[in-house]
Amino acid sequence: MIEGLPMRFPARGLPQSVRIHEVGPRDGLQNEQTVVPVEAKAEFIRRLSAAGLRTVEATSFVRPEWVPQLADAEQLMPLLAGLPASLRLPVLVPNARGLQRALAHGCRYVAVFASATETFAKANLNRSLDESLAMFEPVVGEAAAEGLRVRGYVSMCFGDPWEGPVPLPQVVRVCRALLDMGCDELSLGDTIGVATAGHVGALLGALSEAGVPAERLAVHFHDTYGQALANTLAALQHGVATVDASAGGLGGCPYAKSATGNLATEDLVWMLQGLGIETGVDLGRLLDTSAWMAGVLGRPSPSRTVRALAGADAPRPQEADRGRRGQDSHKEQ
Ligand code: HMG
Ligand code: MG
Repeated sequence: MIEGLPMRFPARGLPQSVRIHEVGPRDGLQNEQTVVPVEAKAEFIRRLSAAGLRTVEATSFVRPEWVPQLADAEQLMPLLAGLPASLRLPVLVPNARGLQRALAHGCRYVAVFASATETFAKANLNRSLDESLAMFEPVVGEAAAEGLRVRGYVSMCFGDPWEGPVPLPQVVRVCRALLDMGCDELSLGDTIGVATAGHVGALLGALSEAGVPAERLAVHFHDTYGQALANTLAALQHGVATVDASAGGLGGCPYAKSATGNLATEDLVWMLQGLGIETGVDLGRLLDTSAWMAGVLGRPSPSRTVRALAGADAPRPQEADRGRRGQDSHKEQ
């Protein structure tokens, strides 16, 4: 046990706090070979909430045949009824049918998910890029009319497994289209984890020039090439303060070849703690949650931080962070 690590050295020009958008229950579990029992999914979300995560993407109301791992969305939502009202539980909705299902379960946060490339739009949504945008437009309009907050994902922002490089203007066009149809927030997806820090800066610069402010942006890095943390730091330096991550580093997309796990929430929290950036997350409780989920899945977590802190001589999270447990955990942002 080494108390007091990581040491804190705030760096200039970074946000004071970061909202972590936890995607483990959705992006993580959608990619598992086996279907996790619905009670275990609900318990996962409960534990994430208790660890201080304030936004936990719960599931998807997609066509069940397309993602059987999340076909139990209707069974899951009622199990989450007892969670704090301030906890955001976004769900994915690809179309009007998905939105109807989400509304029937009282969801207040939804996300549509577009692609920056034609090939992935076809693979993931069975539509061309423009057809998929046309599918989303009435969904976003209706959700906004119902008072819901709408996130728009853009996948393949930094590279595509079939098309290779993705030109910045192509990404900017899709981002603009989603904002213009009424999305409140965009999440820039590096679906296959090929981004590098300079590329992140270039895309954020191009978006800023196109009138997309950093406050409306989140970043969503998969960690295939080990670049997710470096890319996150680059995004923070450009004013982004919402970061998607997955407890234990679970994740991937069944329709994108070579998509691997997301940036692990533990790795993110470790870096942010070192930078003195507030997240409200209790790292100890989060580690316990990922260790528990690894037991459910029957394999160890790929997160470097989870593995490091599982060791006997590992530094434990700072007492100050443990002490915050319960105080910050259920605050609305
Ligand atoms: P389709 O096969 O073209 O469906 O799928 P359709 O529109 O032709 O409809 C056919 C039937 O499906 C109809 O039934 C619909 O009602 C039904 P019928 O009238 O024939 O009896 N149907 C539905 N049923 C329940 N819920 C629904 C629904 N929609 C249609 N929502 C569709 C088109 C978009 C539905 C399909 O392609 C789909 O569900 N895709 C989702 C794929 C997915 O979930 N991928 C993973 C999430 S994205 C991701 O992971 C990336 C991200 O993490 C960011 C990043 O990393 O980049 C977000
Ligand atoms: Mg993803």
